[in-house]
Amino acid sequence: MLGPISLLYCLVALTFTDESVKEKEPIYIGKTALIIMDMQESFMFDGNAYIKGAENLVDAINDIRKYFSHLFDVVIFTQEQHPMLHVSFYPTYHCMRPGDIVELNYTLDGRLCRQHPNVPKWTIPDEHTVECDLEKGTHILVQQELYEPHNIERVLSGKYSSKIVSRLTTDCCNDVIVVRGQYHHLDSASAFYEKLNNVPTTLQSELKQRNIDTLFLVGIAIDLGIIQTVQYAISQLNYEVYVVHDATVPYKRERLPMCEFTIPKMGAHLICMNDLYNIRPKKNVKEEKDKADKCGKCGKCPEGDTDKAAKDAKDAKESKDAKDAKESKDAKDAKESKDAKGSKGAKGAKDEL
Ligand SMILES: *[C@@H]1O[C@H](CO)[C@@H](O)[C@H](O)[C@H]1NC(C)=O
Repeated sequence: MLGPISLLYCLVALTFTDESVKEKEPIYIGKTALIIMDMQESFMFDGNAYIKGAENLVDAINDIRKYFSHLFDVVIFTQEQHPMLHVSFYPTYHCMRPGDIVELNYTLDGRLCRQHPNVPKWTIPDEHTVECDLEKGTHILVQQELYEPHNIERVLSGKYSSKIVSRLTTDCCNDVIVVRGQYHHLDSASAFYEKLNNVPTTLQSELKQRNIDTLFLVGIAIDLGIIQTVQYAISQLNYEVYVVHDATVPYKRERLPMCEFTIPKMGAHLICMNDLYNIRPKKNVKEEKDKADKCGKCGKCPEGDTDKAAKDAKDAKESKDAKDAKESKDAKDAKESKDAKGSKGAKGAKDEL
């Protein structure tokens, strides 16, 4: 069912840990996002940029949603939407082939230098490019790998389709889609930014507004996209990161051992689907979801219910407040003089976050 190499890793991991998985102390996680990377039709069996084993991920990811939905506060899909003459496509250049690498110079503000030794005619629209004075040396040199055209924007069927595979379980009301790769002149790998860190995607703001502190990464591809996302999430943003190995595929199989070595070195947990049984949410995500579902589709409460729910909540809070106020008054009084001193510093620290 799974790609042979991923399967091998997780089988080996299991032979060593099988007994202890059940014995192990459960791992408690905080507010969590499941990030499903680039599960798009171009990468599937009929797609123009087929990645071996990609189609097997659909069942794996659906299983994760089915059996472990209590772990995730939000599910986020990344979706590449490349324009036709994208900088990462080999036909954008003359005489290039998939797998070739071209060197590109960018200005510090992220525009592409038009001069290129290998291409007689540059086909990327002018608004993203600029004539550079390369003698000055104030440019960023990027090694751009070239691919078969894939994930073309607004193409929703056929081998160039950027559509998210329809067999994947989705929850249209609550799932989030983060689009990337929509600039002609910039490629993207990390889910957080287009190549050159100064152009962010919407991912970080989606995570931040939900107070997410833990990420689970699955999808395409562990060596191209996922590994860059892990690196940035940990080193720049301090997330706790889990990569579910047997719910990913490599773009290039020969890079898999490098990923298996590097991802844990970066501080992420490289786990297998089976390990999810050992992970528990700190709070009950399912309870909160059920509560939200009672408010109807898409979290909007029906008119009558809103008032009732609000009233119940208010009543409950009022009686609790009254009780709390009594109980804590003495303690509070005693604390107040002390807090007055410390609170200014504490507030400052909070604001910085
Ligand atoms: C990029 O710029 C450097 C100088 O900064 C230059 O030596 C090199 O040839 C340029 N490469 C391309 C592909 O334009």
